[in-house]
Amino acid sequence: MEQASINNDLVLENLVGYISKNTVQESIKPIFKTDNFALYNEDSLNVMSRFPDNYIDMIFADPPYMLSNDGFTCQNGRMVSVNKGKWDKSSGFEEDLAFHETWIKECKRILKPEGTIWISGTYHSIYQCGFLLQKLGFHLLNDITWFKPNASPNLSCRFFTASHETVLWARKDKNAKHHFDYEAMKNGRFPEDSIKKPELQMRSVWSIPTPSPKEKVFGKHPTQKPLALLKRIVLSSTKPGDIIFDPFNGSGTTGIATTSIGKRKYIGCDLNKEYLDLTIKRYKALTANKELFE
Ligand SMILES: C[S@@+](CC[C@H](N)C(=O)[O-])C[C@H]1O[C@@H](n2cnc3c(N)ncnc32)[C@H](O)[C@@H]1O
Repeated sequence: MEQASINNDLVLENLVGYISKNTVQESIKPIFKTDNFALYNEDSLNVMSRFPDNYIDMIFADPPYMLSNDGFTCQNGRMVSVNKGKWDKSSGFEEDLAFHETWIKECKRILKPEGTIWISGTYHSIYQCGFLLQKLGFHLLNDITWFKPNASPNLSCRFFTASHETVLWARKDKNAKHHFDYEAMKNGRFPEDSIKKPELQMRSVWSIPTPSPKEKVFGKHPTQKPLALLKRIVLSSTKPGDIIFDPFNGSGTTGIATTSIGKRKYIGCDLNKEYLDLTIKRYKALTANKELFE
């Protein structure tokens, strides 16, 4: 099969392998699929290797933070481990850097020239990812500070309280023109954000609380992002008909935001099936009762 003949529906149907260096890859099947939403219980590199070049409009990636170092933090007044899961353990600076370089390079291949990538993280990973975006020739558009007004306090009282994450936004091709919904960002309603002033330009510091218990009724993911953050990202940088890909799906917040906004397609993948099961529950609840998510 030629790359050019792979259309959107076919990819969402079955991610049929395509000819690459004279070998045909085996098909992989989604564990869940609708007309606009597909989930793969696979390594993201395996899924991306099936995509043709220049195929995806927008990527949101929330890669492992590599911060699960057996330390402790405070949550709701209780001391809890910082460990998120095996997938979040650092393998050392060089290996972590090589991991990030491999997936970011593949993201560049599958993005359309005017396509954009968002990468979120803390200081444990974000400098490596930002360095690699520059090394691999992306054009940086913004570094958003996601301020968490309700971040957990610092237990040791020997550091400032970590209360933000950085979300980088970059375009694949320096000379292409990316999509930015300036009006929606300037004039939209953002009641959760005490920094955003009505009818004034959206700044690069966004104040958004961490997910409320309401967003976690279907189960918990240790690093679940707030729906308001992902809705803002999807709305600002995509248009109807676009295909959005999340290589580190987790609880599926990117897909839920995409579905909630509508008229776009979503593909997500995660190594952990329990997180995809959680995503499916969120998706079914959203499509059964959209108002609950607005
Ligand atoms: C930081 S979390 C993403 C959280 C997500 N943004 C959310 O809102 O729930 C990273 C996720 O990547 C998954 N993961 C780690 N390595 C992966 C890989 N190589 N391929 C696919 N998924 C991976 C983990 O299981 C974890 O759920």
